[in-house]
Amino acid sequence: MNRGKLMERLSALKSREKVRVLFVCLGNICRSPAAEGVLRDIVARRGTSSRWMIDSAGTGRWHIGQLPDKRMRIHARRRGIELTHICRQVREADFDDFDLIIPMDGQNEADLRALAPTSEAAGRIIPMAAFVSKAMRFDYIPDPYYEGAEGFELVLDLLEDGCQRLADAIED
Ligand code: 4NP
Repeated sequence: MNRGKLMERLSALKSREKVRVLFVCLGNICRSPAAEGVLRDIVARRGTSSRWMIDSAGTGRWHIGQLPDKRMRIHARRRGIELTHICRQVREADFDDFDLIIPMDGQNEADLRALAPTSEAAGRIIPMAAFVSKAMRFDYIPDPYYEGAEGFELVLDLLEDGCQRLADAIED
């Protein structure tokens, strides 16, 4: 998605009283609950939490009811972020309940597009990478599940960069 189109979609949200954001990955135990925690932390520090409704969900169902992956919780905690989300699967009603639905990678995006009930609903899908600085050199958020510590750190670096820019786009 080009920058102009992204800004056009986001500018429609700037005047909203409440901004509702759903992050989506495959398992909902690593990337999307981390994104949820990172954005919550950013808006809490800005004193604007009450303007935001932030949640996450997975396209898969293996981990429903579980806390985030222990490794992701440890790496997030080192940055002062506690991850307490309980895993759930994404559902069609999420397209009514959220203004922005943000997949972490291309497969998550394709799965969401298949679930979207209308093209208007599909218009709420914006990939996380669209918010991440070009200098970070990633056009998706890589799955850290089978990676080592550096994979989790990379995800948090990408999410901190992207969530900062997402909050700026809505609030500045
Ligand atoms: P996530 O990572 O999509 O970032 O939550 C994964 C977690 C679990 C699995 C795959 C990816 N899994 O296959 O169980």
